[in-house]
Amino acid sequence: MTDSPAPMVAVIVVAAGSGSRLGHSEPKAFVPLAGRTLLERALLGVFGMREPAQVIVVAPADRLDAARAIADSAAGPFDDRVDVVAGGASRQDSVNRGLAVVRPGVLTVLVHDAARALTPSALCDAVVDAVRATGNGVVPGLAVVDTIKRVDGHGAILGTVDRSALSAVQTPQGFPRDVLVAAAAAATGESTDDAAMVASAGYPVNVIEGDALAFKITTPWDLRRAESLLRAGSALAGSPAAASIPAGENARATITPDPRVGTGLDVHAFDDASPLWLAGLHWPGERGLSGHSDGDAAVHAICDAMLAAAGLGDIGGIFGTSDPVYAEAHGEVFLRETVRRITDAGFRVGNVSVQIIGNRPKLAPRRAEAQALLGSLLGTSVSVTATTTDALGFTGRGEGIAALATAILFPVTAERPVLSWEA
Ligand code: CTP
Ligand code: MG
Repeated sequence: MTDSPAPMVAVIVVAAGSGSRLGHSEPKAFVPLAGRTLLERALLGVFGMREPAQVIVVAPADRLDAARAIADSAAGPFDDRVDVVAGGASRQDSVNRGLAVVRPGVLTVLVHDAARALTPSALCDAVVDAVRATGNGVVPGLAVVDTIKRVDGHGAILGTVDRSALSAVQTPQGFPRDVLVAAAAAATGESTDDAAMVASAGYPVNVIEGDALAFKITTPWDLRRAESLLRAGSALAGSPAAASIPAGENARATITPDPRVGTGLDVHAFDDASPLWLAGLHWPGERGLSGHSDGDAAVHAICDAMLAAAGLGDIGGIFGTSDPVYAEAHGEVFLRETVRRITDAGFRVGNVSVQIIGNRPKLAPRRAEAQALLGSLLGTSVSVTATTTDALGFTGRGEGIAALATAILFPVTAERPVLSWEA
């Protein structure tokens, strides 16, 4: 429990549907997706928002305890901001039941489908910002890429719809609280989204750029797509293939010719005047880190680990702390140059692991994104983890962030054995 100030934003996460098109024995929000339920994954995105929000989970009436347990685990110390209520027969009923428990003081309400389980926190932040900036309803949407035909009931094509005038809309959809309440009270028929209900009550609704990761998991194919996206972002840790290796085989598989291991540690102090760049990502709204470059401690620790493994010295010796070429430089510049140097020295990267030590930012909602980005820059698997230090030391006092990385390199001349799980 925390004594945080009363939230000004509420997010209603609708999770009361059965998921008939997914065809699973569990209701859709409780179906596992790479080791966590869809609901937990959706909530991790919501709890990663910049601004503390009231989070209202609308769950099937017979699953309230399970929903509460999942929500509390995703909320961590912020469980005092969570409410769980029973849903209704239609999505709109479920939204209305969530709306009934929005706390006093909330001015902006977002409605979000738990089924859009991979939605990035930054999209939720962008919707809140746009509602505040315009005073209108705001929905994220993506341009339609397919050619769309109008057809009759027998499959005959009647015409082509001008796709430049179309947007495929997603959630979270955000509204000024009084607008959503008034529109819900005035609604007569059922709408498939909140924007339609608000627009039919006569209020303006704008579209902002959506995010491909906010796709809705509707069918088994969508679930497989979400699983493979998550797996691509964390190819090593917890992969089903690795988990199935018998113990004896595993021991044999770890014997490799002449691998080189290196470690790297980097520390940067918080600097309120800078934007935060960490693990290659920009973190809008978070306190930045001081440094000659962008202060990305995670990337610098990775470079140090790779250079150390190759016996090439350290990042300070190679990049220079005052070289104007690297002023404000982002992680990509350091990583590419480090890879170039270790390649020239006759090595390739096996894998890299980096642990971020600090209170903020909350990594979990963007872990897959960070791993995918760093992995693509290094051409290998990168694990990104985070921990706090139980309020001890400079990281515990919130003075800065540390990062500790390990890299394993292989000499390119040596033949790497085929590992048992790759055979
Ligand atoms: N939803 C809800 N209450 C309902 C119906 C739907 O809270 N009575 C929620 C779902 O849990 C989901 C979101 O609305 O997070 C979007 O709905 P959809 O993807 O259609 O989910 P389901 O209705 O569960 O799936 P299906 O239509 O395949 O049965
Ligand atoms: Mg439905």
